[in-house]
Amino acid sequence: MNDLLIENARLPDGRRGMHVLVLAGSIDAVSDAPIAAPEGTERLDAADLLLSPPFVDAHFHLDAALSYGQPRVNQSGTLLEGIELWGELKPQLTQEAIVERALRYCDWAVARGLLAIRSHVDVCDDRLLAAEALIEVRHRVAPYLDLQLVAFPQDGLLRSPNALTNLTRALDMGVEVVGGIPHFERTMADGAESVRILTELAANRGLMVDMHCDESDDPMSRHIETLAAQTHRLGLHGRVTGSHLTSMHSMDNYYVSKLLPLMVEAQVNVVSNPLINITIQGRHDTYPKRRGLTRIPELREKGLRVALGHDCVMDPWYSLGSADMLEVAGMAVHAAQMTSQDAMRDCFEAVTTDAAAVLGLPGYGIEPGHHGDMVLLQAKDPVEAIRLRAQRLAVIRRGRIIARAEPVRSALALPGRPAQVDFLHEAR
Ligand code: FE2
Repeated sequence: MNDLLIENARLPDGRRGMHVLVLAGSIDAVSDAPIAAPEGTERLDAADLLLSPPFVDAHFHLDAALSYGQPRVNQSGTLLEGIELWGELKPQLTQEAIVERALRYCDWAVARGLLAIRSHVDVCDDRLLAAEALIEVRHRVAPYLDLQLVAFPQDGLLRSPNALTNLTRALDMGVEVVGGIPHFERTMADGAESVRILTELAANRGLMVDMHCDESDDPMSRHIETLAAQTHRLGLHGRVTGSHLTSMHSMDNYYVSKLLPLMVEAQVNVVSNPLINITIQGRHDTYPKRRGLTRIPELREKGLRVALGHDCVMDPWYSLGSADMLEVAGMAVHAAQMTSQDAMRDCFEAVTTDAAAVLGLPGYGIEPGHHGDMVLLQAKDPVEAIRLRAQRLAVIRRGRIIARAEPVRSALALPGRPAQVDFLHEAR
């Protein structure tokens, strides 16, 4: 809990020359006039660069992260080989190994200014090793990172023996969100039944819901319709999230024109995972080949909250990634063709404020009374941050600088040209 004065910052909404004072870990003042700070307050010169609330990952799998190469590498890079690999790895997992990998990933996250993660945790293993491990990790990282856990029946709630019992046990242990995977059940009817069971479970316990939903190219995979209907029936408005929703990419437009108002009625949140969706969807297509992302701009246009997730980093499904939510936002810009100025800023919000709202994080944002959590980026505005995957110059948690990085600059040795180049650009 530190006191910190950040001077001469730009904020994501475009305000310049802003000063932010954090006292005892909370934001005390945000002003365009100089702020008198108490003696002994640490100072940070933002040098007219972008000060943002920290990044938030709305969809991740921390139990699998950084397991790349164990027990072997996914040679084809396909979903099917990834599922095989995870099946081979699961019996070999130990709690210590999961904790060690998860803590290492959280170090990466902090260095990237990513200070809140919603992680699904596989509860289909009767030992519930991963749930136990991630509950321990949640406790250990709490001083510097908010970890929210989702009880995720990876092999299907009805398809996998003991999944419902295990999921309930995980909730009893302190996992705080109800997960699901209706498109992986044996039939569409079983998928719908799993949605009913899980949303009722959440309603009875007063919990949020976040389901892997319709992660498929099948235009007839329509569990989001059921999820929206159950959300409305049970009064869970605003507390339910549909993750992936990739089948919406392939659905008939007329049907989508009926579906969108149902989602609005239920205030269902949406999480898209562009790095994974662009690599895994459309794999059965020859050409034309579908991109497979859900309809992000259309969902946002209807007023629905859309956040982005990293989903995987160096695990059986995806051998790339480095906890960089600007890489995630950049992929959404490209794959969803969100290249208007407004849409690019929307993509930045989808990894900051919108993702925080999906998680229901209290005290998030650069406003008086909120937590002193921020990241100083080597960029002038959110669009430039995405363009450059901007360096995180300082990462601040409750007023304390918990990570620093040197500015990215290259030295040039060219006659008649500057000695250094830093890639920043101001429209002139
Ligand atoms: Fe996922």
